[in-house]
Amino acid sequence: MEITVCRSGDVALLDRYMGSPGATSFHARRFARQEAGECTYLVAWLDGRPVGHAEMRWTGCAAPEVTLDCPEIGGLAVWPEELRSRGIGTELIRAAEELARQRGLTTVGIGVGRDNPRAVALYARLGYRPVTDYLDRYAYQDHDGTTRECVEACTFLLRELLPGHLDVRHCSNSSR
Ligand SMILES: CC(C)(COP(=O)(O)OP(=O)(O)OC[C@H]1O[C@@H](n2cnc3c(N)ncnc32)[C@H](O)[C@@H]1OP(=O)(O)O)[C@@H](O)C(=O)NCCC(=O)NCCS
Repeated sequence: MEITVCRSGDVALLDRYMGSPGATSFHARRFARQEAGECTYLVAWLDGRPVGHAEMRWTGCAAPEVTLDCPEIGGLAVWPEELRSRGIGTELIRAAEELARQRGLTTVGIGVGRDNPRAVALYARLGYRPVTDYLDRYAYQDHDGTTRECVEACTFLLRELLPGHLDVRHCSNSSR
């Protein structure tokens, strides 16, 4: 398994193997944000296929309730389901944290749905502590052109980064 920063040619592969709901490509949106310097979009690969992703949002959490000045890990997922619980999600989080360390940052946040106890348990194991509840609002376009507005009850979690040096090979542009 390898983790790399998303390149333009990866978006089509992400759409193919890790599709978004409706007609909106979440991957294209995240790549556009990366191009604008707002995030780093990390992709996990296995045998040349994308199997996971995480968006390190340097701009932090957009919800007004979250007033902390720290980057936020978002868009975390591993697919297909049979590849979960093998450590891929953990490696994506650790890679995102390492990017923050490289920028001299000392805290990282992550938002989690209050109906997602397994993800909450994972983040707690990785050292994230709850700070505040908020509503995550986002929209996407359905296949019939209808815009779907979503509101999710979430908790924002925070982790203090310890000094440490991971092998950041996974954040290079090495070939797969
Ligand atoms: C959450 C997620 C990214 C974790 O990735 P992962 O590769 O399974 O993570 P790891 O193998 O490093 O850690 C596994 C732990 O993740 C947690 N987890 C959360 N949701 C899970 C799911 N649907 N299936 C399996 N594990 C899940 C569990 O605590 C699990 O621990 P366990 O193996 O002891 O049950 C992944 O399970 C996933 O894509 N879930 C659906 C999307 C999602 O909920 N994203 C998080 C939004 S905040």
